[in-house]
Amino acid sequence: MVTYQIYVRSFADGDGDGVGDLRGVASHLDDLVTLGVDALWLTPIYASPQEDHGYDVADPRAVDPLFGDLADLDALVSGAHRRGLRLLLDLVPNHTSAAHAWFQAALAAAPGSPERARYLFRDGRGAGGANPPNDWVSLFGGPAWERVRESDGRPGQWYLHLFAPGQPDLDWSNSDVGDDAEATLRFWLDRGVDGFRVDVAHGLVKAEGLPDDDTAARRADATFFPVEGAPMWDQPGVHDIYRRWRSVLDSYDGDRCLVGELWVRDPDRHASYVRPDELHLAFAFPLLEAPLDAGAWRAAITASLAATVAVGSPATWVLGNHDVVRIATRLGGLDAARAATLALLALPGPVFLYQGDELGLPGVTVAPDARQDPIWERSGHTVIGRDGCRVPLPWSGEAPPYGFSTGTPWLPQPGDWGDLTAVAQATDPLSTLVLVRGALAVRRALLGGGLTWREGMPAGVLAFDRPGGGAPVTCVLNTATTAATVDVAGRLVLASTPVRYDGASLALPPRSCVWLSPAG
Ligand code: GLC
Repeated sequence: MVTYQIYVRSFADGDGDGVGDLRGVASHLDDLVTLGVDALWLTPIYASPQEDHGYDVADPRAVDPLFGDLADLDALVSGAHRRGLRLLLDLVPNHTSAAHAWFQAALAAAPGSPERARYLFRDGRGAGGANPPNDWVSLFGGPAWERVRESDGRPGQWYLHLFAPGQPDLDWSNSDVGDDAEATLRFWLDRGVDGFRVDVAHGLVKAEGLPDDDTAARRADATFFPVEGAPMWDQPGVHDIYRRWRSVLDSYDGDRCLVGELWVRDPDRHASYVRPDELHLAFAFPLLEAPLDAGAWRAAITASLAATVAVGSPATWVLGNHDVVRIATRLGGLDAARAATLALLALPGPVFLYQGDELGLPGVTVAPDARQDPIWERSGHTVIGRDGCRVPLPWSGEAPPYGFSTGTPWLPQPGDWGDLTAVAQATDPLSTLVLVRGALAVRRALLGGGLTWREGMPAGVLAFDRPGGGAPVTCVLNTATTAATVDVAGRLVLASTPVRYDGASLALPPRSCVWLSPAG
């Protein structure tokens, strides 16, 4: 199964306001069928002040007018289903928006009230409670605590926000919180949605007593998510939540699915979330964090496969999403991105493809005054943020807005994307779009099951067989920045870049990948 991630704001704009929406998605369903994906994941479309572009949810059972309305969502679900595409929504259970009715009620209520108990309000430390309750920091920069004013106007309690202050963390030990999440699951499942990507699935439960974070010192070099062992991540109690959700999904017809966003780096702890009665899938992020290096890839793939096989689930592969630098920029160019993407699509098990990676889009350095990611402001302009991978898609034409919108796109598009548009690439046999389409078509015929490594490859080269009946494939990836020659028999099926091959000796250019079918 290949799922295409739609970052709704940046996919296609149906009403000319410069922000992508549900009608925009609906208008391109046929393009997604032509691309050859099986399912779509939509980033949050719920009512939201959009402080973190929808990951700040004010009402999880309403569509934000920015994206359309419930009728648009229903039409999209049925349009997708008619075409054989499944549709996943994004569930944001760790926090709400500060604009959520519960949080507004909590602000208006007194310390110790039931309204406050749905969130993590605490008294401050030190004289007059002037210091935050603990030393936790926000992933978006600054302290993870915000102080409120009580109804008498005086500075009062503090509330926890692991992300922006507009995203207060819920207290999952409060039964209202679990009951409401179940109501949200049922609301969308009843409308025919096929499942959910679960945001920050390793969060939700915090260590008893909210102790200081003794991993803070080790966190200095952390990327978007910090290291293991912190009191706000990967707590044992979180698994009970997914057992409850799994039983809800299992009570529905069809193949409803939960996919976790889990920044848990130990493969066995990660795989514990996809035990048979928990989430169905969880993104394996090691490849997304790895350099394009044969040893690093083989180690990451082997570890993820071993850990997931042990619990009876597949590993779920991903190289890009709306939070990380685009593959083409991260791995050092389009050749590397095409090679990595082709290798990714040869792996056994579900794959998620981020919109625009099928076009080989590079990351963009958005001009400082156009930056929108809260990380930029929260970090005091020291961390550039994630806007560079969120630039609206180029569909057609020679200049912005490239068919994305009839208005002004919410993030500026580069002026030199004319050759990268979907329309320009659709008819170019050497384009990234045609390569990805080809890979998705061949992949469909592959059977499930694991992979078999080929040993004895030259330095920097990784090769594996995808066995099975149908049409087996041998994938050969040269991660090196120098050419390599590999002795391998077969017939060329796909190549990320032109290669020389005589049926026995394969000359691989730097950073290239080919798929072969066995000889005979
Ligand atoms: C997830 C999302 C990210 C968001 C964060 C807070 O990591 O992918 O975009 O900012 O959660 O909800």
